[in-house]
Amino acid sequence: MPTQDEIFTASEADRWFERNKHVLGELPADDIPARLVELYRLRPRSILEIGAANGYRVAELAKRTGARGVAIEPSAAAIADGAQRFSHVTFHQGEARALPVEQTFELVIVNFVLHWIDRKNLLRCAAEIDRVVADGGHLVLGDFHPWRPARNVYHHLPDAGVMTFKQDYAQLFLASELYQPVALLTSHGRELDASVADGERYGVSLLRKRL
Ligand SMILES: C[S@@+](CC[C@H](N)C(=O)[O-])C[C@H]1O[C@@H](n2cnc3c(N)ncnc32)[C@H](O)[C@@H]1O
Repeated sequence: MPTQDEIFTASEADRWFERNKHVLGELPADDIPARLVELYRLRPRSILEIGAANGYRVAELAKRTGARGVAIEPSAAAIADGAQRFSHVTFHQGEARALPVEQTFELVIVNFVLHWIDRKNLLRCAAEIDRVVADGGHLVLGDFHPWRPARNVYHHLPDAGVMTFKQDYAQLFLASELYQPVALLTSHGRELDASVADGERYGVSLLRKRL
């Protein structure tokens, strides 16, 4: 029985990119991970984005901060597009559960990726993400941020048994006590807003690692 990560990366990763590539060019002015970098005046010398699509965010952040930018992404189509557009970014094809890099990074971004991860692989992914965050570095985790954990059938693959899992992923890292919370920004730019439908809130946490 394949894990849902295998199902996803075998076909849906490229399809997701094809459906969304028209909006994956310039970094939007209201991009919350970028806003956190600006607000907290982060000046990392190296930035890794995991599940980076064509690298549009890491490309812009690398330019703004002067950092070395690296993108990891399972979709070959997204990487081919990004390699053409953003020649200053290094791309690796790969997945969160076995990151194809050895070094650590001063800023690691994982935005809208963990809700797709098969629950069998979730802690393995968290360990892999932790492995590549430098001591003293920052981790940005953006995802759906419901009041209660929720699981839903993924509507683009309704018959494949693929689910999306909505929860506060920062808690995985905070529980280790290796990370301190720095900030949480939401799609409303303020503390989580109860007027937004549960399961549709987007929260981005900034954590700092201290061994
Ligand atoms: C919703 S998109 C978000 C893209 C980008 N991070 C952003 O914020 O716009 C999720 C991305 O994660 C990638 N992805 C899916 N499963 C993954 C996995 N197991 N490991 C790493 N990336 C994955 C997808 O191919 C896709 O590019």
